[in-house]
Amino acid sequence: MPKKGTSQFFNSYARGFNVIYGSENTLLNRIINGLFGRSMRLRFIKTIEGCEPIEGRSVIDVGCGSGHYAIVLAQRGAKSILGIDFAKGMIELADGNARLADVEDRCNFICYDFLVYPLKGKFDYSVVVGFMDYIEHPEEIIKRVLAITKTRAFFSFPLEGGIFARQRKIRYRRKCDLFLYKEEEVRELFAGESYEKLEVERISRDLFVTVHMR
Ligand SMILES: C[S@@+](CC[C@H](N)C(=O)[O-])C[C@H]1O[C@@H](n2cnc3c(N)ncnc32)[C@H](O)[C@@H]1O
Repeated sequence: MPKKGTSQFFNSYARGFNVIYGSENTLLNRIINGLFGRSMRLRFIKTIEGCEPIEGRSVIDVGCGSGHYAIVLAQRGAKSILGIDFAKGMIELADGNARLADVEDRCNFICYDFLVYPLKGKFDYSVVVGFMDYIEHPEEIIKRVLAITKTRAFFSFPLEGGIFARQRKIRYRRKCDLFLYKEEEVRELFAGESYEKLEVERISRDLFVTVHMR
């Protein structure tokens, strides 16, 4: 079977992905949460806590998927959230999830490739979580994101090495391209950029990066 493009893969996987955040206590949900849960939970908590104060602030969620970050941030008081994802199935889920949570007036989900999206203005917070895994030229994304961030940007990078990374590479080899990182590589990617402070933390199978712009 030929490997799918990333947008095609996430388009077909959208429903399965949404289940990871599901509140239904089904056996499948419990298995999925057990397998993938720790890193996803930790990076979610760190991002949501890092976007404080949130009241009246603007956020961009790059590779927003089914919209869970955007929706929680809207519920906590964000003024506006722009979610961008190039998988149509994800954007449809995000719109539906925002309606269910009654925050659709503050969430704007757009089906677009972030690499070529015509960005206008700046955002208080930028969320780039679970996204760099699929990016061939990470430096372009980092530059684009930092150029539109006023206060803080949050990135996750999947760690290279270890049994989990090897298994993930095997699982993805027929799905879409997957890029894993060493800590030195991640630090190097941010080295030429301008910001006030960079924090790089290892959380389970990811590196979680907070960039303080001021
Ligand atoms: C693993 S999901 C993560 C979703 C969400 N950030 C989360 O953590 O819940 C990655 C998402 O990035 C999207 N994506 C990957 N490359 C993209 C690009 N160049 N432009 C827009 N979306 C992209 C995929 O379609 C997918 O929905």
